[in-house]
Amino acid sequence: SSRMKIALLLVTIGAAWYANLLQMDTNRANIADTDQLQCRNGFYPYGGVCMYSNNENVNYGVAVSACAAVGAYAPSIHNQSDLDFWIGALKWQNPPISHYWLDAYCETPGGNYTWRDALPTDYLGPKGELTGCAPGTGYHIHADGLKRFFYDTPASAVCSYDTKADRADPYCNCAVDKFGFPSGWNYNDIWVDVAIILDTSEAMGTTACFLAGALIESFFGDGFDDFLITDTNAPFYTRVGVIGMSDTPTVLYNLNMTKNDKVHGKASIKKGVLGIDVVA
Ligand SMILES: *[C@@H]1O[C@H](CO)[C@@H](O)[C@H](O)[C@H]1NC(C)=O
Ligand SMILES: *[C@@H]1O[C@H](CO)[C@@H](O)[C@H](O)[C@H]1NC(C)=O
Ligand SMILES: *[C@@H]1O[C@H](CO)[C@@H](O)[C@H](O)[C@H]1NC(C)=O
Repeated sequence: SSRMKIALLLVTIGAAWYANLLQMDTNRANIADTDQLQCRNGFYPYGGVCMYSNNENVNYGVAVSACAAVGAYAPSIHNQSDLDFWIGALKWQNPPISHYWLDAYCETPGGNYTWRDALPTDYLGPKGELTGCAPGTGYHIHADGLKRFFYDTPASAVCSYDTKADRADPYCNCAVDKFGFPSGWNYNDIWVDVAIILDTSEAMGTTACFLAGALIESFFGDGFDDFLITDTNAPFYTRVGVIGMSDTPTVLYNLNMTKNDKVHGKASIKKGVLGIDVVA
C-alpha cells in the first residue's frame, strides 16, 4: 500500500510543480538563452547539465519523488569537481538557496551511502562523509560541503537528468514531455485488467492467505485514499479480478472487484491440496 501511495503522491507533486515550473521558465529565460544546451521544458541549462529546482523546503522522500516525477534525479557526487559544481549550483537558483537534497540514502547502515541513480559510490567526500551511513539519513549540499541530515529535515529539491541520454523514452520509444512522460499521455487514460492469482493450497497456510487477502484489498485504498478503483462509469477504468488457485481455479472476482469487496471470507485454504502445480 505504501507503493501505491507513492504513485499517487507523484501525480500530486507533478501537478503542483507544473505551475511552479511555468513561473520559473520565465525567471530563467535569460540564463537559458545564453547556453547552447537544449533542455526539456521546465529544465534550464547550466554548466553542461539540465537542471530543475523547486525552491521549496521538502523532506527527502518528497524531493526524490519530485525529481522522479520529472524523469530526473537529485544530484549524485563522484569526485571533488562534482562536489564543487553542485555547491556552485546553490547560487544558480533564483533566488539563491542555502541547501538542497542529494539523492544518497542509507541502504546498509554502517556501509557506504547509496545513490538512487544507481551510479557507484566511488567517492566518499572530502571527510569520508559518504561512508559509515546512519539509518534514516541522507545529505544536503551546503555552501561548505556535504551535511548529513535525517530524511525529514527540509531542504530544496534540485534535479538533473543525463543530457547525453536519448531524448526519446527507451521503453515506449516515443517523445517525452517535461515530466519525462510520453507526450500527450494522460494518467487518467490508462486502464488495465489486473488478474491476481491467490495460492489457496496448504502450502500457503491460513495466516499467509489472510495477509495476502488484506494486501489485495489494500490495492483499492487504505480507508482514506482510493488507489485502484473499478469505476465502471468512468470513460476508462481498471478492472481487478481475483482467482483462488488450489487443485482447481476458483474465480472469486471476475474482473469486478471494488473497494467494498473483501477477499477475506471468500478465499480459504483447500485441505488436502499440498501445493499448486504450476506446471500443470
Ligand atoms: C567527475 O565525475 C563526473 C561524473 O559524475 C565526470 O563527468 C567528470 O569527468 C569527473 N571529473 C573528474 C575530474 O574526474
Ligand atoms: C565504499 O566505497 C569505497 C570507494 O568506492 C570502496 O573502496 C569501499 O569498498 C566501499 N565500502 C563498502 C562497504 O562498500
Ligand atoms: C463478480 O464476479 C463474481 C465471480 O464471477 C460473481 O460471483 C459476483 O457476483 C460478481 N459481482 C458482481 C457485483 O457482479
